[in-house]
Amino acid sequence: MAKKTIRDIELKDKKVLMRVDFNVPIQNGKISDDNRIRAALPTIEYAIEKGGKLILFSHLGRIKTEEDKAKNSLAVVATRLEELLGKKVTFIPETRGEKLEAAINNLKSGEVLMFENTRFEDLEGKKESKNDPELGKYWASLGDVFVNDAFGTAHRAHASNVGISENIEEAVAGFLLEKEINFIGGALENPERPFVAILGGAKVSDKIEVINNLLKIADKVLIGGGMAFTFYKAMGYEIGKSLLEEDKVDLAKQLLKEANGKIVLGSDVVTAKEFNKDAQPFVRKVTEIPSDELGMDIGPESVKEFAEIIKDAKTVVWNGPMGVFEFESFANGTKQVALELTKIKDHATTIIGGGDSAAAVIEFGLEDGFSHISTGGGASLEYLEGKELPGIKAVKDK
Ligand code: 3PG
Repeated sequence: MAKKTIRDIELKDKKVLMRVDFNVPIQNGKISDDNRIRAALPTIEYAIEKGGKLILFSHLGRIKTEEDKAKNSLAVVATRLEELLGKKVTFIPETRGEKLEAAINNLKSGEVLMFENTRFEDLEGKKESKNDPELGKYWASLGDVFVNDAFGTAHRAHASNVGISENIEEAVAGFLLEKEINFIGGALENPERPFVAILGGAKVSDKIEVINNLLKIADKVLIGGGMAFTFYKAMGYEIGKSLLEEDKVDLAKQLLKEANGKIVLGSDVVTAKEFNKDAQPFVRKVTEIPSDELGMDIGPESVKEFAEIIKDAKTVVWNGPMGVFEFESFANGTKQVALELTKIKDHATTIIGGGDSAAAVIEFGLEDGFSHISTGGGASLEYLEGKELPGIKAVKDK
């Protein structure tokens, strides 16, 4: 169902409440990755250009104690946004009250205000995270219209997304939310075929629902990363010291059977004697993994086998790295798969489903080579599981 977007509503002179996901990594007081802020800029700039009085808010981290508040103030994010926008962003270090209300009432059209981390409200009774009805209603009362652009938070039913949506007349999607729905939702609902899913990451248990859902929709499901070893075990191979989820071997057997050839596992892997960035890499056939080695990456033959399938794909969704890409000697499989995807960008839709795989392609400097890199971690995972995300559901339909 198509969602109403910021294009569909009047913004001029309106108090525009905009939920963004600025839950960015901060190390030693500095933002180490500002992609989520950059990704929201088109919606923010549009609201300013249309003469809205913009009120931005987001969560940052998880707030359980008073000490968590000091580490998770949005002040540093407001400063970064100000630099990126080249425009003043007034930061109000409150989540409610007279000071915030006065600042909002003094806003002029085209001006921008950001208020403090919505999860500061969690200290007393988890008001934000439990979608306290009074809080959603209060925040909704601060504005005239609500724009939700926080895809990364769409799997949460919190006061600052669902709560506000339920208490305001206009609750619409921003451009980022719209883009995520169009790409991920589009691939799941109406993919151009062949549709290839590439799944990796450490554990089968984290991806069971995604595998189940994508097996129903995709034409091929390529599996790499740590979770592949539980499948190799299920196929009867010895996997040495590789990651194994013993209790998921039967499930892996069942998935392989039901998949009827749809699941593709590579024929070789890169191993090491220990999990260490300086460990010596060995290329091994999956049928010949020595008992004292563990799998760290997919091997060169597997890359070729995956590339052969990828080259004809018209839609690709990728979630989870192919190996320990954080260690240079074991990053090749993930990098080669990323490169194969960049080659088909002109005639296929290629989607990186957030989290570690997004971090990997950004680290490789390949971020321009895909149709879409999702800003969601948990949100993209739940979307790929086929779940309805509450943050999206709460936005009005067209
Ligand atoms: C994320 O980073 O996945 C989102 O911002 C949601 O954060 P949360 O897992 O703390 O709710």
